[in-house]
Amino acid sequence: VPLQPLNSFGIAARAASLVRVRGEDDVRAVLADAELALQPRFVLGGGSNIVLTGDVKATVLKVEVTGRRVVGEDARHTLVESGAGEVWHDFVAWTLAQGLPGLENLALIPGTVGAGPVQNIGAYGVELQDRFHELDAVDLHTGELFTLNAAQCGFGYRDSVFKHIAATDDDFGLAGRALILRVRFALPKAWQPVLGYLDLERKMAETGIHTPSAQQIFDWIVEIRRAKLPDPAVIGNAGSFFKNPTVTPEQCQDIIGRDPKVVHYPMPDGSVKLAAGWLIDACGWKGKSVGNAAVYDKQALVLVNRGGLDNPATGGEVMTLAKAIQTSVYERFGIRLEPEPVVV
Ligand code: EPU
Repeated sequence: VPLQPLNSFGIAARAASLVRVRGEDDVRAVLADAELALQPRFVLGGGSNIVLTGDVKATVLKVEVTGRRVVGEDARHTLVESGAGEVWHDFVAWTLAQGLPGLENLALIPGTVGAGPVQNIGAYGVELQDRFHELDAVDLHTGELFTLNAAQCGFGYRDSVFKHIAATDDDFGLAGRALILRVRFALPKAWQPVLGYLDLERKMAETGIHTPSAQQIFDWIVEIRRAKLPDPAVIGNAGSFFKNPTVTPEQCQDIIGRDPKVVHYPMPDGSVKLAAGWLIDACGWKGKSVGNAAVYDKQALVLVNRGGLDNPATGGEVMTLAKAIQTSVYERFGIRLEPEPVVV
């Protein structure tokens, strides 16, 4: 099965087999199948946060669970549910059309709803965990259905239990173990806009709108993202390729000593977050390439496939470029950048 149409980088690779999952029964059918039951399994959503470095030996479970609905409320929230296979951006637009704000800062993030919790998607001051209620998943070993709340998902910055493999019985890693079927969100009845981000402050200053509606914020975010992030339908990519690193205030002082212009944000816990895009840019990487893998010229944090679908970058080229960037950022600033997408 060709995977090129199923990953946003447009990398050419194949899978041994592919099963479309529309509900838990499709997973149970795989487990009951004499041949498929013995094969390893790989869960695929929108394919917008993966780098394929070769053919996938596993059976690909392509999540296509659909449906969106309001499922209930509590005193402070309206609860909405989406099938994991729904397109994230369309789901955000749907919530706003229902008169339910809260997800507008997360507009235009590529991928599916089910992939959102895996990396705890975040943008412009809001993370998925801020609006998350619970999710239903199916155990890929037993076929059992289970529900996890936010604490059980172990959310962190671009991180969750779904990115970790359990090393011991006490660990609660679920990578390769869980397939997310449905996600429920708690949207605040007393909605407050989240406007602290510089890009949004600029929009307010430009338009003179200081109390924007959720729909207005949604429209601004779409404009901001279109201006600086490549559309995967036009030029293949997987969003930010590295996480923004966190350092101690002492390390930050050391880096300011090397380059006083370094972009840094103090965090509530006393640590300091650095803009990985700035570090990479400062090392001169914008527009540089290895084969057909290149650093996007408007945002150094994004690696792109500039060969299109006909002559695509290979996963090897992407990873060679990524390693070269890591080395140069380490040599110049002493910071080790960590890849953000899942490398397969
Ligand atoms: N910068 C540069 N040069 C560059 C890129 C960035 O100097 O080439 C500077 C910018 O000028 C800015 C700072 O670095 O001062 C931060 O850049 P930006 O606001 O574009 O955000 P980011 O830190 O690069 C993060 C997320 C994005 C998210 C945006 C907005 C990560 C890894 N990335 O990017 O998420 O959309 O903030 O909230 O946290 C993703 O995860 O795939 C993603 C796109």
